[in-house]
Amino acid sequence: MRTIKLNAIDSTNSFLRQLSAEETVEDFTVVTAEHQTGGRGQMGTKWESQSAKNLMFSVFKDTRVLDVECHFYLSMAVSLAVFEALKSFQITSLKIKWPNDILSDQQKVCGILIENVIKQNQLQSSIIGIGINVNQTIFNDLPNATSMQLISGTHFNRDQVLQEVLNQLKHYISFLDSKSYDLLKQAYENNLFRKDKPSTFKDKQGNLFSGYIKGVSNSGHLKVLIEDGIVKLYELKEVQLLF
Ligand code: BTN
Repeated sequence: MRTIKLNAIDSTNSFLRQLSAEETVEDFTVVTAEHQTGGRGQMGTKWESQSAKNLMFSVFKDTRVLDVECHFYLSMAVSLAVFEALKSFQITSLKIKWPNDILSDQQKVCGILIENVIKQNQLQSSIIGIGINVNQTIFNDLPNATSMQLISGTHFNRDQVLQEVLNQLKHYISFLDSKSYDLLKQAYENNLFRKDKPSTFKDKQGNLFSGYIKGVSNSGHLKVLIEDGIVKLYELKEVQLLF
């Protein structure tokens, strides 16, 4: 397995995407960076992370095995891999917040950005970007962020955390090759934040509504039971889970 260790880069996702456009990249090639000048998050947000304290990395995966409408199974596999890796370091009260934030006690410890390369409606490859707050202890402008160190009171070796996440990624991504989709979905939904709990959402017009999270569809829509037994499907752009 090839690992490319960078000191500074705009974004490990952008770097790996560019590299895979220029040359053949082996599955599970990893790019890590100590510092990102333009780290990217979901929905066009920025990902800011303290250098030398946290983990920022991207992994290349050939995803031709996945039908394009089933692309969210990769997201489930990646969320579960990080979830299990953190659990193995005794990080407690973990949940997966749809689509793929990893929370501990309702605070975000890891963010995931998966970028798919699709050609002629067929998935080709995916760049799996992962940012884990490992040893950072001060989050000035981010009241909902936490780190492995804050949760456990322990300083972690980042290489060990990275290795464990990669091991778990290989394990969970193998479920895609064997098409064990139901297993992935069950495990993902079992650990979903606010599943079956009364929750409040904001739609894209800014209106609040309440409902119960029932699960996800194959393509990653959130299933919300709103009223009188009506279950609606929402895309990430359409809805924000508030509490
Ligand atoms: C999110 O929670 O919005 C997703 C954050 C993903 C951040 C990681 S850090 C490594 C990789 N490179 C990026 O530019 N983003 C991802």
